[in-house]
Amino acid sequence: MCGIMGYAGGKRAAEIIIEGLSRQEYRGYDSAGIALRCEDEIVSAKIVGRVSELARKVKELPKKCAESTSGIGHTRWATHGGVTETNAHPHESADGSVVLVHNGIVENSREIKSRLESEGVKFITQTDTEAACQLLAALYKKTRGDALESMKTLTAELRGAFALVILFRDRPGEIWCARRGSPLVAARDGSACYCASDPTALLAYTRDLFFLEEGEMARLSPEQCEFFGFGGEKKRKKTIRLNWDSVMADKGRHDHFMRKEIGEQPDVLRLTIDTHTILAEVAMDKSLALPPGLMKRVRRVQLVACGTSNYAALVARDIMESFDNSLDVSAEIASEYRYRNVAGGDDTLAVFVSQSGETADTLAAARIARARGTHCVAVTNVRGSTLDREIDRAVLSLAGPEVGVAATKTFMGQISILAMLSMALLKDRGTLSAGDEARLIGGLRSIPALQQSIIERENEIKTLAEKYAGSGGFFFIGRRECVPLTMEGALKLKEIAYLPSEAYAAGEMKHGPIAMLDEKLTVVALVPDTDLREKTLSNVEECRARNAPILLLVSEGDEAARAHATDIFFVPRTEPELFPFVAVIPLQLFAYHVARALGRDIDMPRNLAKSVTVE
Ligand code: G6P
Repeated sequence: MCGIMGYAGGKRAAEIIIEGLSRQEYRGYDSAGIALRCEDEIVSAKIVGRVSELARKVKELPKKCAESTSGIGHTRWATHGGVTETNAHPHESADGSVVLVHNGIVENSREIKSRLESEGVKFITQTDTEAACQLLAALYKKTRGDALESMKTLTAELRGAFALVILFRDRPGEIWCARRGSPLVAARDGSACYCASDPTALLAYTRDLFFLEEGEMARLSPEQCEFFGFGGEKKRKKTIRLNWDSVMADKGRHDHFMRKEIGEQPDVLRLTIDTHTILAEVAMDKSLALPPGLMKRVRRVQLVACGTSNYAALVARDIMESFDNSLDVSAEIASEYRYRNVAGGDDTLAVFVSQSGETADTLAAARIARARGTHCVAVTNVRGSTLDREIDRAVLSLAGPEVGVAATKTFMGQISILAMLSMALLKDRGTLSAGDEARLIGGLRSIPALQQSIIERENEIKTLAEKYAGSGGFFFIGRRECVPLTMEGALKLKEIAYLPSEAYAAGEMKHGPIAMLDEKLTVVALVPDTDLREKTLSNVEECRARNAPILLLVSEGDEAARAHATDIFFVPRTEPELFPFVAVIPLQLFAYHVARALGRDIDMPRNLAKSVTVE
């Protein structure tokens, strides 16, 4: 959600900034812009559309801009003000002294605007950001060009969330930054400093990154990255080394990042198992370092997340619950958890699950739980993210950088690490037997090969996807361990194919949704060969009787299920609790190929942001 890139060094800034913006395109945006210091002036270019169009426009700028060695860029995901070139960032103050880009929401922008307007300042955009820009220019003038002093007052006056990156017209080669609520990371490489919203934009230059904390500012120049608190005090910051490289964020031979990332899931699972098991035992409890005896005393575990991470949490809830019903395990939506009067305290363990570690609602929920004295654990895919830094006990999912907006391999990373974590917690509690532990780990170890065998059958799924792409909509149904999968399968289709798709617990269909069924709505039913097979097939029959085409996903060898299906896909057999690890792959590939058949923008679906940093 909005991407920022800044560069101050000795190389051609435009190319570096455009490259940094393209690496952050996946965050979701509708317009983009750049501001370059071109000799003694700052020249901007903005467009509505893609970064590639911005790159073309930059080529048309005056020749001196091609030689520019510092500047800032931005991809905008509109919140305040329509998607127009004027509203795109960077914004320039009326007096031309300040040019800035912003990620977040300035909540008191109206107040600031009316105050400045009454002083005669002319506003030209509908954005909340312009208020910050004009205010900074006024402060800069008042302090006679004292950047630090102006930034101190600016950050004190702004309410809401911001990552701000700023050029002052009379300070060549300098970039100023400030962060509260929205992510910002800086880096130094030889004689250059960089900043960006997302580490992936900087990995081509260095893996040693400075993550700005809440309430921190920075002054970047070719010589150094300097850090300050909002009070103006100098800060020494250490870099955090990211264990990713830029190649991991390349598409490779695939047409889309999403397809590449689907294919990486066997490796993600393998890596997680290898990292967190010793023979047939889970080996995570030590690194987790929960207070001794905690798991014996807690009464409840809350898994809190948004979007796909919430569905990963549901998978973990089901795994925990299946071994221990003395524990009250719930999967909570962070945007609700934060406003409900949810139980907490010393008898509660809350696990916050966020791929990005920057989702505003999940961060807010975690702060609330901490304030209630709840024991907290974070599960995130991004080392150095806000969630990772704010929660002492943070466990990393090991998916590596994910670029496709629709989560795929990070879902696998999450359910893998959550399965390990669940086992570790239940072991501490004494409710997971050594036999079950060995069975689950053995089951998990066999799954990468099963996933691979499905990926090799991609053409089968592609044919089905092309057949059903014209469907008026989809119902995904299943029971128990399949329910989170129905949600994830339906979400993928909504996200990248923009088709109406609903998830229902199979037994609920006849309490309403069945009224919608006819030959135009397809039912995708997940029916593994468990104790619930017959019951779920009865629900399938109820749908078939209403003329809905039925696409069945069943256990390999369940030939008898063919009688219930319009089309069928056989899923390799596994331990019943682990069915989601295998069955999610055909669901992801199905959504991918439906979206392809419909010509959708798969890696950057409309209206979506990968990392939702506003409420
Ligand atoms: C956005 C993304 C989803 C993601 C959700 C939660 O909506 O588009 O793919 O599942 O945020 O993100 P998180 O980073 O907290 O897992």
